[in-house]
Formats: sequence, C-alpha cells, structure tokens
Amino acid sequence: MADAQNTEGRTLTPAFVHEPVMLGEVLQSLDLACGDVVCDCTLGGAGHSVKMAAQIGADGLLLGIDQDPMALAAASERLDREAPETPHRLLKGNFGNLDELLCQAEVPGVDAFLFDLGISSPQVDIPGRGFSYHEDAPLDMRMNDEEDTLNAAEVINTYTEADLTRVLRTYGEEKYAARIAREIVRRRAKEPIATTGQLVEAVKAGIPAAARRHGGHPAKRSFQAIRIEVNHELEVLERGLEAAVRWLNPGGRICVISYHSLEDRIVKRLFQDLSRGCTCPPDLPACVCGHVPVLKVVTKKPLTASAEEVERNPRARSAKTRVAEKL
Ligand SMILES: C[S@@+](CC[C@H](N)C(=O)[O-])C[C@H]1O[C@@H](n2cnc3c(N)ncnc32)[C@H](O)[C@@H]1O
Ligand SMILES: [Zn+2]
Repeated sequence: MADAQNTEGRTLTPAFVHEPVMLGEVLQSLDLACGDVVCDCTLGGAGHSVKMAAQIGADGLLLGIDQDPMALAAASERLDREAPETPHRLLKGNFGNLDELLCQAEVPGVDAFLFDLGISSPQVDIPGRGFSYHEDAPLDMRMNDEEDTLNAAEVINTYTEADLTRVLRTYGEEKYAARIAREIVRRRAKEPIATTGQLVEAVKAGIPAAARRHGGHPAKRSFQAIRIEVNHELEVLERGLEAAVRWLNPGGRICVISYHSLEDRIVKRLFQDLSRGCTCPPDLPACVCGHVPVLKVVTKKPLTASAEEVERNPRARSAKTRVAEKL
C-alpha cells in the first residue's frame, strides 16, 4: 500500500507497518512447541503472530483477535503470505469478551496467550483516526470505529467538568486535570471541540506555562486518558486477563506487554492475586479463605526492552513485559 503523506510532507507509516515490541523476549518466555494452540489477543499487524505461527507449525493453531478491522485485514494477508502452513483463525472482537470469542473458535483450551496492549503505529499515524496530538483530525479515538459507540468528541463535549477531571486525573495521571477540564468546558460553551487540534489547544491553555515546557508533549497524558475512557481499556484488560487465565492449559503461559503504569499495575496485581495461596492468619487451625494459587509468576520484575531496541524503536521505551504460567 502506498505511503500516506501528512500536510508537512512527512511520510507516514504505510498501513500496518508496526515493529513488534520485545519479540525475542516474548518468544523466549512463551516457549512454544509444535502443535500448540496460541491466542494473540492483540493481533495488530501480526508482527508477533507470524513468528509464533512458525514455531507451532502445521499441527498448531493460531487464534488472532483484534477489534480493528483494518488490523485484521492486514494481519490475515500477512499470515497467509508468511506462515501459510500454520492453521489460523482470526476473530473480530474485543478481548474483553474473550469467553465468547474462544467459544466461537471451538478450542478446548489454549497453550499460550499474548496481549500487546494499546494502539499500533498505523492507528496512531493515520490522522483520520484521531489518536494523534501531532495531526489535526476529527476527535474519534475508537479502536473499533465500525461500531456506534462513544467517541472522543462525545466525551469531550458532553461529560461534566467533574467527570472530565476524574478521567484526566485517573487515566492520564494528569496533575492539572481540574484546570484542563475547566478550560475544555469554557471553550466548548462557545463552540464544540471537534478536532484533535482544538483539544490540544484547550489542554495547553489549561496547563501553566512553566509546566508546559518540560515532560514531553503537554497533551500526551490527556490524550492517553481520553483514549482509555473511549475504549474502556482498563476494564476490558482486567476482564480479558481473567478469562485468559481460565482458558490456559496447565503449564501454558500468558505474556502481557503494557505501555503505561496503569496497565502494568493491573497485570502485576492480577498475577500476584492469582499466584497467592491461602491468605488466612497463621493462627487459624484450618483454611477458611479457600484461596488456591492458579498461576506461577515467571517474571518477578517486568522485562524491559534492550537499549538497542529502544534506539531502533522508540515505542519500546515504555514497554513492560510480564509473564505467568498456569499451574
Ligand atoms: C500494539 S498493537 C499490536 C501489535 C502486534 N503485536 C504486532 O506486533 O503487529 C495492539 C492491537 O490490539 C488491538 N486492541 C487493543 N485493545 C484491544 C481490545 N480490547 N480488544 C481487541 N483488540 C484490541 C488494537 O486494535 C491494535 O491493533
Ligand atoms: Zn486460607
């Protein structure tokens, strides 16, 4: 597919060229065998999946889930071309509904799960999707833009000031959440905020000038927050991980790559909770809590990308990879 050009003439990423993050580490920790059933819950451009498919071979089965039809189309073509011998089944949907998706796939269990969270490079780079604070585009930010669900413009123009503050504070960890929310409400009273450019301006105006000069792009945290709200990213993550652990076969592994602390905290807590046995006080004669560990945490500390990878692919800088094994 031809490269898209933005208004400054810079060449954007061609459709679904997305460099897989921590590929070596993922393959090593999943430790796949011929014949395994693998579920990639965030298929994207199939960057990880083509390699996993090669490892499980003709007797294996690769399931690929994505809610973005553009990603599925690109991944399907790539898998047919680069891993034609491995059976694969692609499923359109949200990994928050993993139970239904896996029932559709009619598999008894899964040997390995991968979650590579967030959005892919092409999703950020295509201005029409409204994810980027570098391009002026309609405020959308839905990963699945085929469904008639709440988009970013509706969040920005209809949420109360208190709700906007909560979203910016909890999902963006934005110190100036209240000031930014006030500025959004003030501006939208005159005219609706319809584009990413208008949102960037409102966010900038809400942050004190001195604070605007450090810590990266001033709208980064707010855009992250709105995106999480629009796509319910944290709720679906928790649901998806819980379901994945249930579907994992004994000895099977789950690997999660997250890109910000809110996601990483959810993964870390869930792995810890599910790996804990009895939590009764030691002086109780018998267990009353009934907790039985179902996971073993493989990575006590999250794995991070090598300096070389970060140099080559800046997206890898914030990546944290956690791995657990089903008991
Ligand atoms: C970081 S990209 C994955 C890239 C892929 N690992 C690769 O190397 O090509 C994340 C993908 O997951 C999808 N995604 C994010 N959250 C999702 C969810 N809750 N349900 C289904 N797909 C999701 C996005 O649409 C995106 O295509
Ligand atoms: Zn107990």
